[in-house]
Amino acid sequence: MKKNKTPNPEPRTPNAVASGNIVWHDHRLSKEERSKMKYQKPCILWFTGLSGSGKSTIANAVEARLYEMGRHTYLLDGDNIRRRLNKDLGFSDEDRVENIRRIGEVARLFVDSGLIILTAFISPFQKDRDQVRSMMEEGEFIEIFVDVPLEVCESRDPKGLYKKARKGEIADFTGISSPYEPPADPEIRLAAHSQSVEESVDQIVDYLKKEGYLDVR
Ligand code: ADX
Repeated sequence: MKKNKTPNPEPRTPNAVASGNIVWHDHRLSKEERSKMKYQKPCILWFTGLSGSGKSTIANAVEARLYEMGRHTYLLDGDNIRRRLNKDLGFSDEDRVENIRRIGEVARLFVDSGLIILTAFISPFQKDRDQVRSMMEEGEFIEIFVDVPLEVCESRDPKGLYKKARKGEIADFTGISSPYEPPADPEIRLAAHSQSVEESVDQIVDYLKKEGYLDVR
C-alpha cells in the first residue's frame, strides 16, 4: 500500500478557523469502532477517467456486488453531485479543482463513518487526486484508472457531448479542449474497453479481498 504525503492540508478559506472561534470536536465514537461494526476497512474507491469511459457504470456495478456481499457503501457520482452540492461550479480548471476538493472532503467524512465510498468523477488533474490521497490515512485512498482511449470514449459518446464539444458548443471539454492527466501510479488500472464490466468488478473486488478491506473480524 502507498504512503500518504502531507496530512492535514491548509484549509482553502481559513477565515473562520483563523478567528480562533472554531474548535475541533473529537467524536466519542472512533472510526475504528464504526468500521468494526460493519466488518470492513473503510476506504475511497476513487474512479478517474474520461467522460464516457464507464466510471459510473463500473462504480455502480461494484457497489451492487459489495451490497450482495453485505458490505456498507455509498456512491458519489459526477453528474448528481454537480446538480446539487456543486451546482455553483462549472468546468474551468479552477472550478474543477474546487469540485474535487469538496468531493474529497465529503468522501473523507464517509470514510470516517466507516463506509466504503465510491467516487466517479473525471478528476482530470493528478495534483488534485494526490491532494485527496494526502488527506487520508495510508491505504484509505484507492485510485482506479478507468483507462479507455479518447477515440473509444468519443465513439461511444453516450450523452452526445463529444459531438457538441467538437462543434465548439461546449468549452473546456476534457480530452478535447481541456487536459486529462492519467494517473501516474494507480492502485488499480482497468482496461475497461477490452474487458466486460463484470471483469472490472472482479478485478476491484479481488483487490479489496487481497488487501484485507472486506471481512474484517
Ligand atoms: S471533473 O472534471 O470536475 O471531475 P465531473 O466528473 O464532475 O468533472 O463532471 C463530468 C461530467 O459533466 C461529464 O461526464 C459530462 O457528462 C459533463 N460535462 C459537461 N460539461 C463538461 C466539460 N466541459 N468537460 C467534461 N465534462 C463535462
